[in-house]
Amino acid sequence: MKVFNQRESWQSRTGFIFAALGSAVGLGSIWRFPYVVGQNGGGAFILLYLIFLAIIGFPILIAEIVIGKSAQSSPYGAFKSIGKNRFWGFSGKTLIFTGFIISSFYSVIAGWMLGYLIEAIIGHLNFTSTNLALSHFDKLSSSALWSVGWHFVFMALSILILFFGVRKGIEQKSKIMMPLLIVVVIILVVKGLTLPSAMKGIKFLFSPNWKMITPAGILIALGQAFFTLSLGQGTMITYGSYLSKNEDIPKSCFPVVILNTIISLLVGVAVFTIVFSQDLAPQAGPSLIFETIPLVFTKMKGGYFLAIFFFLLVTLAALTSEISALEPFISYLIDEKKWPRKKASIFAGIVAFIIGIPSALSFGLLKRFTILGMNFFDFISFFSINILVPLGGLLAVILVSYVWGIKKAFSHLSVSKEVFFHHRPWMAFYFKICLKYVSPVLIILILLNLLGIF
Ligand code: PFF
Repeated sequence: MKVFNQRESWQSRTGFIFAALGSAVGLGSIWRFPYVVGQNGGGAFILLYLIFLAIIGFPILIAEIVIGKSAQSSPYGAFKSIGKNRFWGFSGKTLIFTGFIISSFYSVIAGWMLGYLIEAIIGHLNFTSTNLALSHFDKLSSSALWSVGWHFVFMALSILILFFGVRKGIEQKSKIMMPLLIVVVIILVVKGLTLPSAMKGIKFLFSPNWKMITPAGILIALGQAFFTLSLGQGTMITYGSYLSKNEDIPKSCFPVVILNTIISLLVGVAVFTIVFSQDLAPQAGPSLIFETIPLVFTKMKGGYFLAIFFFLLVTLAALTSEISALEPFISYLIDEKKWPRKKASIFAGIVAFIIGIPSALSFGLLKRFTILGMNFFDFISFFSINILVPLGGLLAVILVSYVWGIKKAFSHLSVSKEVFFHHRPWMAFYFKICLKYVSPVLIILILLNLLGIF
């Protein structure tokens, strides 16, 4: 007999791991991670990032998943049922809003990657100088048709996956796309390591240059640890809400953090061995992927295929992240407004597409339109990633540590409280210290710093 209105859930733990890993590995790991490493001291930055992952990223991931799993509802319903008042309901909505806004401009950059994948396939990425690569990128990104067009196509692909729901959509597609992504990463790493002067790239990546670490760099490492695990925007709460009540949370989350870290580092190895092989600047910044990489591939044997692999990798990674940014809003429409999934997915997709249009035009038509001195894209991404995301993380941590209470929250970490506390007392202690003291203090410092107070 068909049970109506039964909430969706993951089919297996592996399914959850692939979906959550798909969310984590995205533009943040492949596009942003290499260039922030390049600009902030290589190995020293990586070390800081790993420390932040351990003391903030992993514990907050656990906190968000436990909120979702225990409430079995969207971030709004989860925050409201645990916090038990309107403030927490509103906070839950804030997180959903953050994920949704991120999905709108994330799709713009992801659309560029998809556009570049097609450029690579039709052989348009042949550059003989940095200037040519640069002007090609400027020409495309400032074209309204190109930018909005690929934003549309990418959003439509994301909605197509979400349309099929948690098991047949998110879980099944992640189980196909993530292994494919891992294969492509390995191909690129092997290629990179066999190039002459590969060691230069490795050295740059792993030998710490402490002089390049600045207070701003420390904050970037912290923000990266947050962003890469898709925290503070309702994604992990929503993914946690599809876990069965019997799931052991640390066991299902640990592989996500480890694999995400390994993939980011491998992408770093691929990018820097390739960049150094042509003696190009590793500090190119955001344009590293669109200019430096195609330029290097032009000069390399087999570069045509490598460029295709590379942009395929980024596009796949972005797709599994984009769907995870949209899902909290969709789950809210399904849980709270009782909309059917298909209607909710299409509605979310259309609205996110429209909100994303000004971001897509920020490099062309709307170049001169600025808010606080930033173009629309820079403003909305700065505001959501640097302010709303840490705020969302802070709300989740306070909810778990001080409103719900660590003891009660932890009783949902595993099948039963006894199983968790008896078998892993050291882990309970570690999570408790990180969630009650370390994370809130560090997040508050980040926010004060942004406001110019600290
Ligand atoms: N974790 C993703 C990345 O590193 O690219 C970014 C991300 C995914 C942000 C999902 C927000 C989100 F809701």
